[in-house]
Amino acid sequence: MGREFVEIFDEWAHSYDASVSGEDPEYRDVFEGYETILSEVAKRVSGTVIEFGTGTGNLTAQLIEAGNSVIGIEPNTKMRQVTADRFPSINIMDGDLLQFNVANENIDAFVSSYVFHHLTDEEKGEALKIYAQLLPASGKVVFADTAFITDGAKKNQVIKERNRGFHNVADDLEREYYTTIPILTKLFDDAGFQVSFLKMNDFVWLMDATKK
Ligand SMILES: C[S@@+](CC[C@H](N)C(=O)[O-])C[C@H]1O[C@@H](n2cnc3c(N)ncnc32)[C@H](O)[C@@H]1O
Repeated sequence: MGREFVEIFDEWAHSYDASVSGEDPEYRDVFEGYETILSEVAKRVSGTVIEFGTGTGNLTAQLIEAGNSVIGIEPNTKMRQVTADRFPSINIMDGDLLQFNVANENIDAFVSSYVFHHLTDEEKGEALKIYAQLLPASGKVVFADTAFITDGAKKNQVIKERNRGFHNVADDLEREYYTTIPILTKLFDDAGFQVSFLKMNDFVWLMDATKK
């Protein structure tokens, strides 16, 4: 469930940090303002924070730096090892956006960057309902991820990427479950969150949700 793209990160684990720093021209626009995007997520939460899809630990670093108590949930073994090696003192567990074991924790927030699109829209709704059950009133979900204003905007982005020869990005947009802001608004609302969105670059939106 939601783990169909996990193996892709076996290959990407060693070169991921080069991609986010703009070395891969295909992904330069996706990761434009990457560190700012991560800091916008980190500054919106505090306390005990569950981070999904830690990857190489870049958001984890900002969350720890801000004084949070972080528990990482990462389904890819190689990525999990990278984060665990980088932050030996924190708990990085096998798990995913839908299945994770944080029993006995008083959770203040769920966060992620570049991860939520691994779930179908139906699974996204399911996941948000799980988070709502685990959070107190005013608890937060803050995700940064690629999304589009409309389905048409997404199709136009795919055409733009193909026209400039960026077929990896175009294939990625067509393969994974990148959704729209109206759909996300409804999913957060149905799960009992008040949500606002902030556009961070041509791809990424910040989703800042508070449990009602
Ligand atoms: C594009 S990377 C993002 C890494 C990091 N959050 C960042 O911002 O640089 C996506 C990460 O999500 C993980 N992932 C893939 N499917 C997932 C799922 N269903 N639940 C949680 N994490 C998932 C991948 O293994 C990978 O580490």
